[in-house]
Formats: sequence, structure tokens, C-alpha cells
Amino acid sequence: MVRWLALAIILLVPSGALPQVAGPAAPDMTQIENGMKLYRADGVDCEYCHDWRGVGKEHEAEFGDVKQAGGPALITSLMSREQMIEIISCGKIIGQRDRVMPQYRGDAWTAALPCYGKTLANTPVEERPVHGKRQMNPREVEAVVDYIRAVYQGKRMSVEWCLKYFPTSQRICDTLL
Ligand code: HEC
Repeated sequence: MVRWLALAIILLVPSGALPQVAGPAAPDMTQIENGMKLYRADGVDCEYCHDWRGVGKEHEAEFGDVKQAGGPALITSLMSREQMIEIISCGKIIGQRDRVMPQYRGDAWTAALPCYGKTLANTPVEERPVHGKRQMNPREVEAVVDYIRAVYQGKRMSVEWCLKYFPTSQRICDTLL
């Protein structure tokens, strides 16, 4: 009798209602494409320092009061998802304000969201990063990280992704072939 009851429950409960395995859900395509739109967006400007192919970029120009704009390749990044979320949320100053990874969360470096174990109160002014022109919310930061992990980290940008990245000027994707 008990066995029949168990079978009936298995048959009747739709699988979607069963408890899900713990852990972050795999990012879906919409999330990754949203991340791509942020990566190339004016004001977010990831592309400006990391290039649309994720291979890094150099500029003679300054970025805020920082000497030189530019950033490393993301295709060779060894960071975990959590480390990427932290560096994008918090930003980071390199050297004597030689370079900067901008800060993209306005509420970072506070008691609610400390950065590298610190808050603004115990970080000297010269070590505080420049803010990105456009700040992001937690979901947006995660989307951009999921895009980097899906398209750049440990790989090269594919033609398929290039065509999504440049919907109106797709000839640039010929350079990937
Ligand atoms: C003004 C230039 C600049 C902009 C704009 C910029 N970055 Fe960076 N980024 C840097 C620099 C410089 C570093 C190197 C930090 C270091 O050496 O620790 C860096 C590091 C990183 C890293 C860590 C890579 C690694 O493995 O060390 C990630 C991930 C990253 N940036 C993502 C982004 C994203 C996403 C955006 C846009 C939301 C962005 N960056 C915008 C300059 C920039």
C-alpha cells in the first residue's frame, strides 16, 4: 500500500515541482546576451580597456586621474566567477594610480559590501578606484561575468558571438576567420 502511494506521488508530482539541486543556476542565453550588451555599452566601456575580442587593450589616454587607460586580456584570466564579481563590483588601482580597473557598484567598499576585506574608511584615498561612468546592479554584474566566462575565458571569441556583438557591422567578424 505504501509502495503504491509512493508511486502515485512520483507520477502525479510534476518534475518541476521537485526540489532543485543546490547551487547557482546555469546562466541562460538571455543572461549571457544581456552581459554582452553591457560589456559593449557606452559608459560601461569594458570594451574600451579589454577589447571586443577580450584580448586586452592599451591607450595613451588617461582614465579619470589615472595615468593610463588599458586592461589585460580576459581570455587568459584564471579568476573564478566570484573573483570576477568582486573585481568588477569593487574595481582596483594598480601601482601609483598607473592603471585602474574601474568600480561598477556604487555601494561597494561599504560595511554592506566590503572589497578585499576593506571599506573606504580603511583605504587611503590614492588606493580608491575611479568609478565607471555607468554603475551596475548585482544582476548586471553577474550577467557581464557570465558573458566573459561563456565567450572569452579560456577561449577565443567565435564568429557566432561576433555576429551577435556587431549586429549592424558584421564585416568586422571576417577578421576572426
Ligand atoms: C579603464 C580601463 C578598464 C575598464 C573600462 C575596465 N577594465 Fe577591467 N581591468 C582593467 C585593469 C587595468 C585590470 C587589471 C587589474 C589587475 O591588474 O589586478 C582589469 C581587470 C579585469 C578583470 C580581471 C582579469 C584577471 O584575470 O586579472 C576582469 C574580469 C575585468 N577587468 C572585467 C572588466 C569588465 C567586465 C569591465 C566592464 C564592466 C571592465 N573590466 C572595465 C581595466 C579596465
